[in-house]
Amino acid sequence: MSYLDDANYIRGLAKKNNELFGDSLPMIASENVLSPMCMEMLISDFHGRYAEGHPGKRYYQGCKIFDDVETKGVELAKKLFNCSFANIQATSGTVANMAVFKALAKPGERVTVLPTAAGAHISHGKIGGIGVRGLDTVEFPFDKENMNLDIEGSKKVIREAKPKFALFGQSVFLFPTPLEELAEVSHELGARVVYDAAHVLGLIAGGKFQDPLREGADVMMGSTHKTLPGPQGGVILSDVKADSEINEKFLKAIDFAVFPGVTSSYHLHHCAAKAIAFAEHLEFGREYAGQMVSNAKALAQGLHERDFNVLGEKLGFTESHQVVVQIGEVGEAKGRWAAQVLEDAGIICNMNMVPEDTSALNPSGLRLGVPELTRMGMKEKEMGQVAEFYKRALIDLEDPTKVKEDVRAFKQDYRIMKFCFVDNWDAYRYNELF
Ligand SMILES: Cc1ncc(COP(=O)(O)O)c(C=O)c1O
Repeated sequence: MSYLDDANYIRGLAKKNNELFGDSLPMIASENVLSPMCMEMLISDFHGRYAEGHPGKRYYQGCKIFDDVETKGVELAKKLFNCSFANIQATSGTVANMAVFKALAKPGERVTVLPTAAGAHISHGKIGGIGVRGLDTVEFPFDKENMNLDIEGSKKVIREAKPKFALFGQSVFLFPTPLEELAEVSHELGARVVYDAAHVLGLIAGGKFQDPLREGADVMMGSTHKTLPGPQGGVILSDVKADSEINEKFLKAIDFAVFPGVTSSYHLHHCAAKAIAFAEHLEFGREYAGQMVSNAKALAQGLHERDFNVLGEKLGFTESHQVVVQIGEVGEAKGRWAAQVLEDAGIICNMNMVPEDTSALNPSGLRLGVPELTRMGMKEKEMGQVAEFYKRALIDLEDPTKVKEDVRAFKQDYRIMKFCFVDNWDAYRYNELF
């Protein structure tokens, strides 16, 4: 008996998935597509090898060549983020967060975080990484009108909570965090300032969002597969110099928390792909990041003009790669309905809580992202066309299968990946080895 049919069944599904995304408008803000040079690393022999420790200080033999890869990757990461410390080993943004939480606080200690409804990631909460580390949390107040932290209220929270660290950065992230003022208060109290840049990492590297390491963050973590369009993985960055015993301890604690803390072998093929993604972003990141922000603004404007309730209006809707739309009133829970209608119409995005929502499973919002559409060459003009598809599906309530046909036809001109070293690469073509 052979299980070859089962194996081919999975391969068939992977092919179908390529077709699905190739024919759709993928607009999940945390997603992106991988460049061919990065992809090549994923099928290289680095896959499955072990390299615990750091370049030159290994527990296994056979790492000499990989040592050069990691050394170059760290050098490129430092250059990209203009900083003195980089650890590129974390296997995801969540793993990077776990390492930093472990390095900076012990179980039972207190930290300050944003609430999930205000856009914080689950790893910032008791049900996620913060809870796994056993930390106590106090939440910052959030201002829905500005879609940002309430600055004075947050300062008060920091002063009263006296946290081990203050954690910033969001999954729903429209506007830069008022970091300088909040970092100052945190540092006065001896708290470290931690900035989770998972979503906005590529915008920061491209110089198109805030620059947390210059605005007071002691450490910044991120995912390497969102606005920074590399392989799935994480990175930890800092510009704290090892110029005192306390700072040296801080940096060592981060390395030690990654390994042996939260990784063993750290997916060397992904590490090699991260190094290439850093090189590609050094080359194309500024232009790519700028176009993402311009596209998000154009999409927000297009949706607003078509009578959608786009949040953040007072400040121009967005300064990032994201747009947040509220469907109906808070409590009406129409986000799930809208996300499903859009999927039926060939647009893939996710329902999301907006401030004041109480259920992540029944929220009233939609979070939209433009990283992938931008990478496929769409610009401001195309964002108007995309907004029109939303109107047809959600406001005109046109038959979604008809909208889907038009989305499919529209998308065929946007399949070639931009902002990478290889030209004419169809991002959705399934590359068969056999
Ligand atoms: C703010 C934030 N932090 C961390 C993560 C987790 O990243 P990963 O999926 O790489 O574990 C996310 C994921 O979207 C996020 O939005």
